[in-house]
Amino acid sequence: MDGLAAGNRVIIGGQWGDEGKGKIVDALGRGVDWVLRYQGGANAGHTIVRGGEKIVLHLVPSGLLSEGVRGYLGNGMVVDPWALRDEIIELEERGVKVRGRLFISAAAHLLMPYHRRIDECLESRRKRRSIGTTGRGIGPAYVDKATRQGLRMGDLLLPKENLERRAIEKILEANEALAALYEAEPLSAANIAQELVVLARSFAPMIVDGHEALAGVRLGRETALFEGAQGALLDLDHGTYPFVTSSSPSIGGALTGTGLPPRCLGEILGVYKAYCTRVGNGPFPSELLAEEGDALRQLGGEFGATTGRARRCGWFDLPAGRFTAEFNGMTGVIITKLDVLDTLPEIKVATGYAVDGGVLDRFPAQGDLLARCKPVYRAFPGWLQPLGACRALADLPAAARSYLEFLERELATPVVGISVGREREEMIWTPGGVSV
Ligand code: IMP
Repeated sequence: MDGLAAGNRVIIGGQWGDEGKGKIVDALGRGVDWVLRYQGGANAGHTIVRGGEKIVLHLVPSGLLSEGVRGYLGNGMVVDPWALRDEIIELEERGVKVRGRLFISAAAHLLMPYHRRIDECLESRRKRRSIGTTGRGIGPAYVDKATRQGLRMGDLLLPKENLERRAIEKILEANEALAALYEAEPLSAANIAQELVVLARSFAPMIVDGHEALAGVRLGRETALFEGAQGALLDLDHGTYPFVTSSSPSIGGALTGTGLPPRCLGEILGVYKAYCTRVGNGPFPSELLAEEGDALRQLGGEFGATTGRARRCGWFDLPAGRFTAEFNGMTGVIITKLDVLDTLPEIKVATGYAVDGGVLDRFPAQGDLLARCKPVYRAFPGWLQPLGACRALADLPAAARSYLEFLERELATPVVGISVGREREEMIWTPGGVSV
Protein backbone atom coordinates (compact mmCIF):
# COMPACT_ATOMS: atom_id res chain seq x y z
CA MET A 1 0.00 0.00 0.00
CA ASP A 2 1.38 3.37 -0.98
CA GLY A 3 0.61 5.76 1.87
CA LEU A 4 -2.83 6.28 3.37
CA ALA A 5 -6.12 7.16 1.72
CA ALA A 6 -6.47 10.73 0.43
CA GLY A 7 -7.90 13.48 2.63
CA ASN A 8 -6.90 16.36 4.84
CA ARG A 9 -4.40 15.66 7.58
CA VAL A 10 -2.48 17.38 10.31
CA ILE A 11 1.03 16.11 11.04
CA ILE A 12 2.12 16.83 14.60
CA GLY A 13 5.35 15.96 16.35
CA GLY A 14 4.41 13.84 19.37
CA GLN A 15 7.63 14.41 21.31
CA TRP A 16 10.21 17.24 21.47
CA GLY A 17 10.62 17.68 17.73
CA ASP A 18 12.88 15.89 15.24
CA GLU A 19 10.51 12.92 15.03
CA GLY A 20 11.03 12.62 11.28
CA LYS A 21 7.98 14.64 10.23
CA GLY A 22 9.72 15.85 7.06
CA LYS A 23 9.85 12.38 5.62
CA ILE A 24 6.22 11.69 6.53
CA VAL A 25 4.98 14.96 5.05
CA ASP A 26 7.01 14.22 1.94
CA ALA A 27 5.40 10.78 1.69
CA LEU A 28 1.83 11.89 2.45
CA GLY A 29 2.09 15.16 0.55
CA ARG A 30 1.82 13.50 -2.82
CA GLY A 31 -1.49 14.26 -4.43
CA VAL A 32 -2.67 16.95 -2.01
CA ASP A 33 -3.36 20.45 -3.26
CA TRP A 34 -1.71 22.29 -0.38
CA VAL A 35 0.91 21.73 2.28
CA LEU A 36 0.47 24.34 5.00
CA ARG A 37 3.04 25.34 7.62
CA TYR A 38 1.22 26.93 10.52
CA GLN A 39 3.78 27.95 13.15
CA GLY A 40 7.43 28.46 13.94
CA GLY A 41 10.06 29.63 11.54
CA ALA A 42 13.55 28.71 10.46
CA ASN A 43 14.13 26.96 13.81
CA ALA A 44 12.64 23.89 12.15
CA GLY A 45 14.85 21.53 10.21
CA HIS A 46 13.04 18.96 8.11
CA THR A 47 15.32 16.43 6.47
CA ILE A 48 14.22 14.50 3.41
CA VAL A 49 16.35 11.86 1.73
CA ARG A 50 15.65 10.93 -1.87
CA GLY A 51 17.80 8.73 -4.00
CA GLY A 52 20.56 9.14 -1.44
CA GLU A 53 20.39 12.94 -1.73
CA LYS A 54 19.66 14.83 1.48
CA ILE A 55 17.56 18.00 1.45
CA VAL A 56 17.10 20.02 4.63
CA LEU A 57 14.23 22.50 4.73
CA HIS A 58 13.69 25.14 7.37
CA LEU A 59 10.87 27.35 6.12
CA VAL A 60 9.62 25.88 2.86
CA PRO A 61 7.07 23.12 3.59
CA SER A 62 8.51 19.65 2.98
CA GLY A 63 5.47 18.81 0.84
CA LEU A 64 6.65 21.21 -1.85
CA LEU A 65 9.06 18.53 -3.02
CA SER A 66 6.09 16.75 -4.57
CA GLU A 67 5.03 17.94 -7.98
CA GLY A 68 1.77 19.78 -8.30
CA VAL A 69 1.57 20.64 -4.60
CA ARG A 70 1.30 24.25 -3.50
CA GLY A 71 3.01 25.35 -0.30
CA TYR A 72 1.78 27.92 2.15
CA LEU A 73 3.45 29.72 5.04
CA GLY A 74 0.63 30.54 7.42
CA ASN A 75 -0.11 33.59 9.51
CA GLY A 76 1.11 31.72 12.60
CA MET A 77 4.67 31.70 11.30
CA VAL A 78 7.59 34.07 11.76
CA VAL A 79 9.39 34.25 8.43
CA ASP A 80 13.01 35.31 8.09
CA PRO A 81 13.07 36.67 4.51
CA TRP A 82 16.84 36.33 4.24
CA ALA A 83 16.69 32.67 5.23
CA LEU A 84 13.73 32.08 2.92
CA ARG A 85 15.53 33.66 -0.02
CA ASP A 86 18.55 31.38 0.52
CA GLU A 87 16.36 28.31 0.84
CA ILE A 88 14.45 29.10 -2.35
CA ILE A 89 17.68 29.68 -4.28
CA GLU A 90 19.11 26.38 -3.04
CA LEU A 91 15.96 24.44 -3.92
CA GLU A 92 15.68 26.00 -7.37
CA GLU A 93 19.34 25.20 -8.02
CA ARG A 94 18.49 21.59 -7.27
CA GLY A 95 15.66 21.70 -9.76
CA VAL A 96 12.73 22.12 -7.34
CA LYS A 97 10.52 24.89 -8.66
CA VAL A 98 9.40 27.07 -5.76
CA ARG A 99 8.31 30.36 -7.31
CA GLY A 100 4.72 30.18 -8.47
CA ARG A 101 4.03 27.33 -6.00
CA LEU A 102 4.83 28.90 -2.64
CA PHE A 103 2.46 31.41 -1.06
CA ILE A 104 2.91 33.38 2.14
CA SER A 105 0.16 34.82 4.32
CA ALA A 106 0.32 38.61 4.46
CA ALA A 107 -0.31 38.19 8.21
CA ALA A 108 2.79 36.07 8.86
CA HIS A 109 5.33 38.02 10.85
CA LEU A 110 8.71 39.09 9.60
CA LEU A 111 11.68 37.83 11.52
CA MET A 112 14.31 40.55 11.33
CA PRO A 113 18.07 40.40 11.99
CA TYR A 114 17.57 42.14 15.33
CA HIS A 115 15.41 39.25 16.52
CA ARG A 116 18.37 36.92 16.09
CA ARG A 117 20.61 39.35 17.92
CA ILE A 118 18.15 39.65 20.82
CA ASP A 119 17.77 35.83 20.94
CA GLU A 120 21.55 35.48 21.31
CA CYS A 121 21.73 38.20 23.98
CA LEU A 122 18.84 36.75 25.97
CA GLU A 123 20.37 33.30 25.89
CA SER A 124 23.79 34.45 27.00
CA ARG A 125 22.23 36.46 29.81
CA ARG A 126 20.32 33.39 31.03
CA LYS A 127 23.65 31.58 31.40
CA ARG A 128 23.10 28.26 33.13
CA ARG A 129 19.34 28.61 32.85
CA SER A 130 19.46 29.09 29.09
CA ILE A 131 16.72 27.43 27.04
CA GLY A 132 19.14 26.28 24.38
CA THR A 133 17.22 27.97 21.56
CA THR A 134 18.19 27.48 17.95
CA GLY A 135 19.38 31.10 17.93
CA ARG A 136 17.11 31.88 14.99
CA GLY A 137 15.34 34.79 16.70
CA ILE A 138 12.05 32.92 17.10
CA GLY A 139 11.13 34.01 20.64
CA PRO A 140 11.86 37.72 20.10
CA ALA A 141 9.88 37.72 16.83
CA TYR A 142 6.83 36.31 18.64
CA VAL A 143 7.36 38.88 21.41
CA ASP A 144 6.99 41.62 18.82
CA LYS A 145 3.89 39.91 17.46
CA ALA A 146 2.28 39.63 20.88
CA THR A 147 3.19 43.19 21.83
CA ARG A 148 1.87 44.38 18.48
CA GLN A 149 5.14 45.85 17.32
CA GLY A 150 6.01 43.42 14.56
CA LEU A 151 6.37 43.91 10.84
CA ARG A 152 4.34 41.49 8.76
CA MET A 153 4.82 39.98 5.33
CA GLY A 154 2.04 42.27 4.09
CA ASP A 155 4.24 45.25 4.95
CA LEU A 156 6.56 44.14 2.18
CA LEU A 157 3.85 45.29 -0.22
CA LEU A 158 4.10 48.90 1.00
CA PRO A 159 5.55 51.49 -1.37
CA LYS A 160 9.35 51.28 -1.24
CA GLU A 161 9.88 54.52 0.72
CA ASN A 162 7.28 53.62 3.35
CA LEU A 163 8.71 50.15 3.84
CA GLU A 164 12.23 51.51 4.09
CA ARG A 165 11.13 54.14 6.65
CA ARG A 166 9.21 51.61 8.76
CA ALA A 167 12.09 49.14 8.71
CA ILE A 168 14.60 51.81 9.72
CA GLU A 169 12.35 52.91 12.59
CA LYS A 170 12.08 49.33 13.85
CA ILE A 171 15.80 48.65 13.55
CA LEU A 172 16.67 51.87 15.37
CA GLU A 173 14.23 50.98 18.16
CA ALA A 174 15.77 47.52 18.39
CA ASN A 175 19.26 49.06 18.46
CA GLU A 176 18.23 51.21 21.42
CA ALA A 177 16.89 48.19 23.28
CA LEU A 178 19.99 46.13 22.42
CA ALA A 179 22.29 48.87 23.71
CA ALA A 180 20.27 49.60 26.85
CA LEU A 181 19.59 46.01 27.89
CA TYR A 182 22.61 44.11 26.64
CA GLU A 183 25.20 46.72 25.72
CA ALA A 184 25.14 45.15 22.26
CA GLU A 185 26.51 46.72 19.09
CA PRO A 186 23.92 48.37 16.83
CA LEU A 187 22.85 46.85 13.53
CA SER A 188 23.16 48.87 10.36
CA ALA A 189 19.65 50.22 9.85
CA ALA A 190 20.21 51.62 6.37
CA ASN A 191 21.79 48.45 4.98
CA ILE A 192 19.19 46.11 6.43
CA ALA A 193 16.30 48.30 5.28
CA GLN A 194 17.72 48.45 1.75
CA GLU A 195 18.16 44.70 1.64
CA LEU A 196 14.59 44.29 2.84
CA VAL A 197 13.32 46.50 0.03
CA VAL A 198 15.07 44.25 -2.50
CA LEU A 199 13.68 41.11 -0.80
CA ALA A 200 10.22 42.69 -0.77
CA ARG A 201 10.28 43.01 -4.53
CA SER A 202 11.11 39.36 -5.00
CA PHE A 203 8.56 38.11 -2.44
CA ALA A 204 5.69 40.38 -3.52
CA PRO A 205 4.14 37.86 -5.95
CA MET A 206 4.03 35.21 -3.19
CA ILE A 207 2.29 37.29 -0.53
CA VAL A 208 -1.42 36.56 -0.34
CA ASP A 209 -4.55 37.18 1.64
CA GLY A 210 -4.74 33.82 3.43
CA HIS A 211 -8.52 33.77 3.69
CA GLU A 212 -8.82 34.05 -0.08
CA ALA A 213 -5.88 31.81 -0.92
CA LEU A 214 -7.24 28.93 1.19
CA ALA A 215 -10.87 29.32 0.09
CA GLY A 216 -10.69 26.04 -1.83
CA VAL A 217 -9.63 24.17 1.34
CA ARG A 218 -12.30 25.90 3.39
CA LEU A 219 -14.97 24.94 0.87
CA GLY A 220 -13.77 21.35 0.66
CA ARG A 221 -12.72 21.64 -2.98
CA GLU A 222 -9.00 21.34 -2.27
CA THR A 223 -7.08 19.06 0.06
CA ALA A 224 -4.52 20.15 2.61
CA LEU A 225 -1.77 18.63 4.69
CA PHE A 226 -0.93 20.72 7.75
CA GLU A 227 2.79 20.43 8.42
CA GLY A 228 3.63 20.98 12.08
CA ALA A 229 7.18 21.91 13.02
CA GLN A 230 8.88 21.13 16.35
CA GLY A 231 6.86 18.90 18.67
CA ALA A 232 3.89 19.07 21.02
CA LEU A 233 6.12 18.94 24.11
CA LEU A 234 7.71 22.19 22.89
CA ASP A 235 4.29 23.88 22.72
CA LEU A 236 4.33 27.29 24.38
CA ASP A 237 1.21 26.48 26.41
CA HIS A 238 1.19 22.71 26.79
CA GLY A 239 4.88 21.87 26.63
CA THR A 240 7.63 21.79 29.22
CA TYR A 241 7.59 25.54 29.88
CA PRO A 242 9.86 27.50 29.93
CA PHE A 243 11.92 25.02 27.87
CA VAL A 244 9.63 25.32 24.88
CA THR A 245 9.43 27.17 21.61
CA SER A 246 7.34 30.33 21.29
CA SER A 247 4.51 28.98 19.14
CA SER A 248 1.89 26.25 19.16
CA PRO A 249 3.13 23.16 17.27
CA SER A 250 -0.04 21.41 18.44
CA ILE A 251 -3.54 21.09 17.08
CA GLY A 252 -4.62 24.56 18.20
CA GLY A 253 -1.78 26.08 16.19
CA ALA A 254 -3.08 24.40 13.03
CA LEU A 255 -6.26 26.43 13.39
CA THR A 256 -4.96 29.80 14.56
CA GLY A 257 -1.91 29.54 12.33
CA THR A 258 -3.90 29.12 9.11
CA GLY A 259 -7.29 30.68 9.85
CA LEU A 260 -9.03 27.52 8.66
CA PRO A 261 -11.98 26.07 10.61
CA PRO A 262 -11.76 22.77 12.56
CA ARG A 263 -13.72 20.79 9.98
CA CYS A 264 -10.78 21.24 7.56
CA LEU A 265 -8.35 19.35 9.77
CA GLY A 266 -9.30 15.78 8.87
CA GLU A 267 -7.07 13.13 10.40
CA ILE A 268 -4.64 14.14 13.13
CA LEU A 269 -1.47 12.11 12.85
CA GLY A 270 1.16 12.16 15.55
CA VAL A 271 4.71 11.33 14.55
CA TYR A 272 6.84 9.67 17.25
CA LYS A 273 10.32 8.29 17.11
CA ALA A 274 10.64 4.69 18.33
CA TYR A 275 12.79 6.19 21.07
CA CYS A 276 13.04 9.81 22.14
CA THR A 277 15.30 12.83 21.60
CA ARG A 278 15.44 16.40 22.71
CA VAL A 279 17.62 19.34 21.67
CA GLY A 280 18.13 22.25 23.97
CA ASN A 281 17.64 22.24 27.71
CA GLY A 282 14.81 21.17 29.97
CA PRO A 283 13.65 18.01 31.73
CA PHE A 284 13.84 14.69 29.87
CA PRO A 285 13.22 11.85 32.37
CA SER A 286 14.06 8.95 30.04
CA GLU A 287 17.32 10.50 28.82
CA LEU A 288 20.29 8.16 28.48
CA LEU A 289 23.51 9.74 29.60
CA ALA A 290 27.17 9.03 28.88
CA GLU A 291 27.99 6.01 26.68
CA GLU A 292 24.42 4.75 26.47
CA GLY A 293 23.25 8.11 25.15
CA ASP A 294 26.22 8.36 22.80
CA ALA A 295 25.52 4.91 21.39
CA LEU A 296 21.89 5.74 20.56
CA ARG A 297 22.95 9.13 19.14
CA GLN A 298 25.39 7.43 16.77
CA LEU A 299 22.90 4.76 15.74
CA GLY A 300 20.22 7.33 15.01
CA GLY A 301 22.49 10.02 13.57
CA GLU A 302 20.98 12.36 16.13
CA PHE A 303 22.56 15.67 15.28
CA GLY A 304 20.38 18.73 14.69
CA ALA A 305 19.36 19.55 11.12
CA THR A 306 19.29 23.28 11.92
CA THR A 307 22.12 23.80 14.38
CA GLY A 308 24.16 20.58 14.09
CA ARG A 309 23.89 20.20 17.87
CA ALA A 310 24.07 16.71 19.35
CA ARG A 311 20.55 15.69 20.33
CA ARG A 312 19.94 14.27 23.78
CA CYS A 313 18.74 10.69 23.37
CA GLY A 314 16.67 8.34 25.51
CA TRP A 315 13.94 5.74 25.60
CA PHE A 316 10.35 6.22 24.51
CA ASP A 317 8.47 8.12 27.20
CA LEU A 318 4.96 6.73 27.39
CA PRO A 319 3.30 9.20 29.79
CA ALA A 320 4.67 12.03 27.61
CA GLY A 321 3.50 10.34 24.41
CA ARG A 322 0.07 9.59 25.83
CA PHE A 323 -0.28 13.19 26.93
CA THR A 324 0.43 14.56 23.45
CA ALA A 325 -1.79 11.95 21.78
CA GLU A 326 -4.62 12.90 24.11
CA PHE A 327 -4.49 16.66 24.03
CA ASN A 328 -4.08 16.76 20.26
CA GLY A 329 -6.86 14.25 19.69
CA MET A 330 -4.60 12.13 17.54
CA THR A 331 -6.44 9.73 15.27
CA GLY A 332 -3.32 7.86 14.23
CA VAL A 333 0.31 7.49 15.15
CA ILE A 334 3.36 7.02 12.93
CA ILE A 335 6.44 5.48 14.52
CA THR A 336 9.71 6.50 12.87
CA LYS A 337 13.28 5.27 12.98
CA LEU A 338 12.31 1.81 14.21
CA ASP A 339 15.33 0.45 12.31
CA VAL A 340 17.66 2.49 14.54
CA LEU A 341 16.94 -0.05 17.29
CA ASP A 342 17.85 -3.05 15.08
CA THR A 343 21.07 -3.93 16.89
CA LEU A 344 19.92 -3.45 20.47
CA PRO A 345 19.40 -6.60 22.56
CA GLU A 346 16.99 -4.78 24.85
CA ILE A 347 14.63 -1.86 24.30
CA LYS A 348 13.09 0.07 27.15
CA VAL A 349 10.03 2.24 27.50
CA ALA A 350 9.38 4.61 30.38
CA THR A 351 5.91 3.61 31.59
CA GLY A 352 5.79 5.97 34.56
CA TYR A 353 7.95 8.03 36.86
CA ALA A 354 9.24 7.49 40.36
CA VAL A 355 8.86 10.79 42.17
CA ASP A 356 8.48 12.01 45.72
CA GLY A 357 8.25 8.47 47.11
CA GLY A 358 5.49 7.32 44.73
CA VAL A 359 4.94 6.38 41.09
CA LEU A 360 3.27 8.73 38.65
CA ASP A 361 1.82 7.29 35.44
CA ARG A 362 0.89 10.59 33.83
CA PHE A 363 2.95 13.45 32.41
CA PRO A 364 3.06 16.23 35.01
CA ALA A 365 2.18 19.77 33.94
CA GLN A 366 4.66 21.33 36.36
CA GLY A 367 8.22 21.53 35.05
CA ASP A 368 9.79 21.30 38.51
CA LEU A 369 7.89 18.08 39.22
CA LEU A 370 8.90 16.63 35.84
CA ALA A 371 12.52 17.54 36.57
CA ARG A 372 12.40 15.36 39.71
CA CYS A 373 10.86 12.38 37.89
CA LYS A 374 12.95 9.26 37.43
CA PRO A 375 11.79 6.80 34.78
CA VAL A 376 10.17 3.47 35.62
CA TYR A 377 11.03 1.18 32.71
CA ARG A 378 9.53 -1.84 31.05
CA ALA A 379 12.04 -3.78 28.94
CA PHE A 380 11.38 -5.49 25.61
CA PRO A 381 13.65 -7.95 23.81
CA GLY A 382 15.25 -6.52 20.69
CA TRP A 383 14.75 -8.14 17.27
CA LEU A 384 18.45 -8.10 16.36
CA GLN A 385 17.92 -8.05 12.61
CA PRO A 386 17.71 -5.29 10.01
CA LEU A 387 14.22 -3.94 9.28
CA GLY A 388 15.15 -1.74 6.32
CA ALA A 389 13.70 -4.07 3.70
CA CYS A 390 10.36 -4.66 5.49
CA ARG A 391 7.40 -3.22 3.58
CA ALA A 392 4.48 -4.93 5.30
CA LEU A 393 3.55 -5.68 8.87
CA ALA A 394 4.03 -9.39 8.20
CA ASP A 395 7.67 -8.74 7.24
CA LEU A 396 8.47 -7.47 10.74
CA PRO A 397 9.95 -9.88 13.29
CA ALA A 398 7.69 -10.82 16.21
CA ALA A 399 9.70 -8.76 18.70
CA ALA A 400 9.29 -5.57 16.64
CA ARG A 401 5.57 -6.23 16.28
CA SER A 402 5.16 -6.75 20.02
CA TYR A 403 6.90 -3.44 20.64
CA LEU A 404 4.60 -1.63 18.21
CA GLU A 405 1.49 -3.35 19.58
CA PHE A 406 2.46 -2.23 23.05
CA LEU A 407 2.88 1.38 21.91
CA GLU A 408 -0.42 1.27 20.05
CA ARG A 409 -2.27 -0.09 23.06
CA GLU A 410 -0.68 2.29 25.54
CA LEU A 411 -1.11 5.36 23.33
CA ALA A 412 -4.70 4.23 22.72
CA THR A 413 -4.25 5.28 19.10
CA PRO A 414 -3.72 3.08 16.02
CA VAL A 415 -0.21 2.93 14.62
CA VAL A 416 -0.88 3.70 10.95
CA GLY A 417 2.67 3.94 9.67
CA ILE A 418 6.15 2.69 10.55
CA SER A 419 9.31 4.16 9.11
CA VAL A 420 12.21 1.74 8.73
CA GLY A 421 14.76 3.91 6.92
CA ARG A 422 15.57 7.36 5.63
CA GLU A 423 14.25 6.95 2.08
CA ARG A 424 10.64 7.69 1.17
CA GLU A 425 9.99 4.04 0.21
CA GLU A 426 11.30 2.67 3.51
CA MET A 427 7.84 2.71 5.07
CA ILE A 428 5.21 0.27 6.21
CA TRP A 429 1.68 1.66 6.03
CA THR A 430 -0.77 0.04 8.42
CA PRO A 431 -4.05 1.95 8.06
CA GLY A 432 -5.85 -0.58 10.25
CA GLY A 433 -3.29 -0.43 13.05
CA VAL A 434 -0.74 -3.05 14.07
CA SER A 435 -2.73 -5.21 16.50
CA VAL A 436 -4.48 -8.12 14.87
P1 IMP B 1 13.57 28.25 19.65
O1 IMP B 1 12.40 27.66 18.95
O2 IMP B 1 14.75 28.49 18.74
O3 IMP B 1 13.22 29.45 20.46
O4 IMP B 1 14.11 27.17 20.72
C1 IMP B 1 13.32 26.78 21.85
C2 IMP B 1 13.49 25.30 22.12
O5 IMP B 1 12.88 24.57 21.07
C3 IMP B 1 14.94 24.82 22.17
O6 IMP B 1 15.01 23.74 23.10
C4 IMP B 1 15.19 24.29 20.78
O7 IMP B 1 16.22 23.34 20.74
C5 IMP B 1 13.83 23.67 20.49
N1 IMP B 1 13.54 23.59 19.06
C6 IMP B 1 13.18 24.58 18.23
N2 IMP B 1 12.98 24.12 17.00
C7 IMP B 1 13.19 22.80 17.04
C8 IMP B 1 13.09 21.74 16.07
O8 IMP B 1 12.74 21.95 14.91
N3 IMP B 1 13.39 20.49 16.52
C9 IMP B 1 13.72 20.24 17.81
N4 IMP B 1 13.82 21.19 18.74
C10 IMP B 1 13.55 22.45 18.37
